Amino acid sequence: MIIAVDGPTASGKGTIAKALAAHFGLPHLDTGLLYRAVGRQVFLSGGNPDDAADALAACDFADAVLADPDLRTEETGGYASRVSIHPPVRAALLARQQAFANQPGGAVLDGRDIATVIAPHADAKLFVTASVSARAMRRWTEMKGLGLDVDRTEIEADLEARDERDRNRAEAPLRQAEGAALLDTSNLTKEMAVATAIALVEKQAN
Ligand code: DC
Repeated sequence: MIIAVDGPTASGKGTIAKALAAHFGLPHLDTGLLYRAVGRQVFLSGGNPDDAADALAACDFADAVLADPDLRTEETGGYASRVSIHPPVRAALLARQQAFANQPGGAVLDGRDIATVIAPHADAKLFVTASVSARAMRRWTEMKGLGLDVDRTEIEADLEARDERDRNRAEAPLRQAEGAALLDTSNLTKEMAVATAIALVEKQAN
């Protein structure tokens, strides 16, 4: 079984994808990490994330970059969003994601274009969303937990800028795929969101 989970940043898609993988006994790939690694590599090499050639060169990142402690920061998220608009970058990361999706036994992948580009043939598709304020609150709590002191309104502005870029890029924009079930987690606890996701996947896959 292939499960595709798409949605904007801090919507809860990563938590849900991880829980679905554990529940159904499937391997999980957070595809945002690949774009984050490219963004981080551009930063480390002093390149410009808005330059297609610099961004493409960064797709050659070493495996060690995937373990970089700064991979999950807002700054790297911004770089990831900027490198992800270049079609050659998306093409360079395509085979790796498709191989993961199509491995024997199936997989869970989360990102922006899993149900639209990477695995349109997925057995179950979820589009996870939440209000900007709910997402900003979660991101702020997460950052606080990491000992980072960040301003909530700044996080909200960053989220909106990133959403805008991810939704409006020409190639593989973030959107709800045809046949994908919408799951709004704004007013759900983590447990409720996961239980709802499991029920939606069971309904689609049967
Ligand atoms: O899910 P995330 O916040 O880790 O993703 C970081 C950025 O990577 C996101 O703003 C856009 C890009 N991305 C993408 O273009 N396609 C994906 N499948 C996953 C992430």
